[in-house]
Amino acid sequence: MLEIVGLTKRFGGLLAVNSVDFAVEPGEVVSLVGPNGAGKTTVFNLVTGVLWPDAGKVWFNGTDVTGLAAHRRARLGMARTFQNIRLFSHLNALENVMVGLVSQGRAGVLASLACTRAERTERRDLIEHAERLLDWVGVGDNRFRLPGHLPYGDQRKVEIARALGLKPKLLILDEPTAGMVAKEAHGVIDLIAQLRATGVALLLIEHNMNVVMAASDRIVVISSGAKIAEGPPAAIRADPQVIEAYLGTEDDDAEGDAEGEE
Ligand SMILES: Nc1ncnc2c1ncn2[C@@H]1O[C@H](COP(=O)(O)OP(=O)(O)OP(=O)(O)O)[C@@H](O)[C@H]1O
Ligand SMILES: [Mg+2]
Repeated sequence: MLEIVGLTKRFGGLLAVNSVDFAVEPGEVVSLVGPNGAGKTTVFNLVTGVLWPDAGKVWFNGTDVTGLAAHRRARLGMARTFQNIRLFSHLNALENVMVGLVSQGRAGVLASLACTRAERTERRDLIEHAERLLDWVGVGDNRFRLPGHLPYGDQRKVEIARALGLKPKLLILDEPTAGMVAKEAHGVIDLIAQLRATGVALLLIEHNMNVVMAASDRIVVISSGAKIAEGPPAAIRADPQVIEAYLGTEDDDAEGDAEGEE
């Protein structure tokens, strides 16, 4: 479904992503992990078209999307959430999800404001669709609240609901549990399991190793821009190079290191 080959990105003198290769198969959950500043978010930005690589290719469902704008990749079935939550602060949860549906071109902004009968029907469908998505992620009861009045975990879920409105084949989540308490993070593990049951493939950046180990089929580890390991959770947990570069020893674990980072 997704294949990246030799992906490379420089910021001035810094080689942020150094010839990274990996793939995501349909329906698979793949996590990208590594120390702060390793280049994980940059890889996501290259995959989704927020940034262009200096070298390498991104393939999505057999199409070379390397030079394609972000919105065109989204239309092909790639949706993402951001490390720093990006919701409209003056719109409630429901409206935030509706904006995602409208921007997809399903209903025009003008059509949804105008008042013919057909347009009213379309608007009602839009609201119902957004409500179904919010119910599905578990924020239905809070749909009229502004993001700032929602717990952090719910804000992330609203972003996920908005991304799901694009009906993605691949959902890309950058630190979905960042800033969450343990109980909220568990909710995300459940949500990932639910998502995978719908057949959507997931690519995840996550510092919470409980989430990574529980949710992933495969883990890709990068350090200083380069891939240092790839494999199923049990193999990654036991890999001496990964322990050295990222996981650390029992009393010095990655989760503790990463706490509070944004
Ligand atoms: N737009 C940019 N301009 C210059 N340098 C950048 C830019 N974006 C990222 N960097 C640098 O590239 C490196 C990789 O950053 P990136 O955000 O991809 O890391 P990350 O693995 O996502 O880290 P974290 O776990 O802290 O989110 C860092 O050294 C960062 O400072
Ligand atoms: Mg990051």
